Amino acid sequence: MTTRHLIGLLLGTEDDWPTAFTEILGRLGPVPGPGGSQHAFDTERITIEPFSLRDRPRYQLVIDRLAYWYYHPREWLKKVSLMDGVYLLNSPFTFQSMEKHAAYCAMMRLGLKVPETVLVPYKNPLDNSRYAYTAARYNKSFDLDAIAEKIGYPIFMKPYDGGAWRGVSRINTPAELHAAYDASGEMLMHLQKAVDYDVFARSLSIGAETMVMRFQPDQPMHSRYAVDHSFLSPEVGTEVVTIGRLVNAFFRWEFNSCETLVSGDQVYPIDYANACPDVALTSLHYYFPWAMKALVKWCVFALVTGRRARLDLETDRFFTVADEPGLSYDDKLAVYGDLADAYFDTARYYDFWSGLQPRLDEVVLDWIAGPDFDQLLVRTVRSVYPEHEQDQFIAHLRGLMELWVREETARLCTNP
Ligand SMILES: Nc1ncnc2c1ncn2[C@@H]1O[C@H](COP(=O)(O)OP(=O)(O)OP(=O)(O)O)[C@@H](O)[C@H]1O
Ligand SMILES: [Mg+2]
Repeated sequence: MTTRHLIGLLLGTEDDWPTAFTEILGRLGPVPGPGGSQHAFDTERITIEPFSLRDRPRYQLVIDRLAYWYYHPREWLKKVSLMDGVYLLNSPFTFQSMEKHAAYCAMMRLGLKVPETVLVPYKNPLDNSRYAYTAARYNKSFDLDAIAEKIGYPIFMKPYDGGAWRGVSRINTPAELHAAYDASGEMLMHLQKAVDYDVFARSLSIGAETMVMRFQPDQPMHSRYAVDHSFLSPEVGTEVVTIGRLVNAFFRWEFNSCETLVSGDQVYPIDYANACPDVALTSLHYYFPWAMKALVKWCVFALVTGRRARLDLETDRFFTVADEPGLSYDDKLAVYGDLADAYFDTARYYDFWSGLQPRLDEVVLDWIAGPDFDQLLVRTVRSVYPEHEQDQFIAHLRGLMELWVREETARLCTNP
């Protein structure tokens, strides 16, 4: 008997990864599960329409890329999560309360090296009839220069709930500080000590798996992710992976990216709450096949093993470790790593996939090396870049994907 699982895709403008995901899942075909069961998977793009709160959804799992800004689907997700047990990547119960600020607080509480951060009140009055009275009575005047002096220049000023570099500025002087604060208007801003870093590591996590990539934030979009396999020492690499997994296990992120700044052997996490992490083919390029495999693997694993979403954070399990007097930072990180493994069921995940991995590897290599993927690549570049840049970017992306195909072919030959 084959059980069919329907995966819903709640999408914005993107077409690249949903096409890849559906294609790979289709080519993978049915997968064996516990007790001789067979499992088959279909995907469907979800449309937005009225729903009764008592309707039963047809989906068992939903990958959401939309609800962080679009509230009708957000409320639908809450309904199908609470009422119907639909498994979500990500859950609105995770991302709605997880502005950068909450994540900073949680990670400081757990002893991570979040740079010194201060939240300052709004610069401009809020558009609320109660604001003037409340502010006149309770907003204390404060000395912005003194706060900045105490943190120490250079400083980053950025919105407490930021994303996509909106409102971010690097500040070197009191004049720049005042100009940036004056410009912040109704945005609520953090002042954060700038880390003088050697490398920027961006980790993309999908379920139990994490890929750490060297990120170059000052480069244009297409070359921000550098292909570099050994830019971190093994110890720092493990620490970066563990921090990402800890954040995800703590907040129940299933699909998230985490930014850490590495200076010498010190790792500073600065941004790790991304409801809709970038998985575009044009930005991930070489790492795109990894991301698609991890997404397929996590969805299949969750569905076949009947994984249940947890809506409660059970923060005490982490805080107990944070408060344990005899534990060093490294000791704590090791226990957090174990807690993350327990949450993501890591051992079972890898065990589940060990027999199937060669088939998936073959399917993905075959597809990426073939004409259908090339068509997707061309179509994607045409939809992203202006006409006069398209040929250049098609060639650029093809080159990176050919590199992946060569390396993957060699990997599978030596390690079938
Ligand atoms: N404390 C810091 N020290 C050094 N650089 C920083 C710091 N905070 C932010 N930056 C720089 O500013 C960029 C944007 O900051 P941040 O990631 O917090 O904002 P964002 O709006 O989430 O941006 P994105 O969507 O690109 O992640 C970072 O990628 C980094 O280059
Ligand atoms: Mg960021």
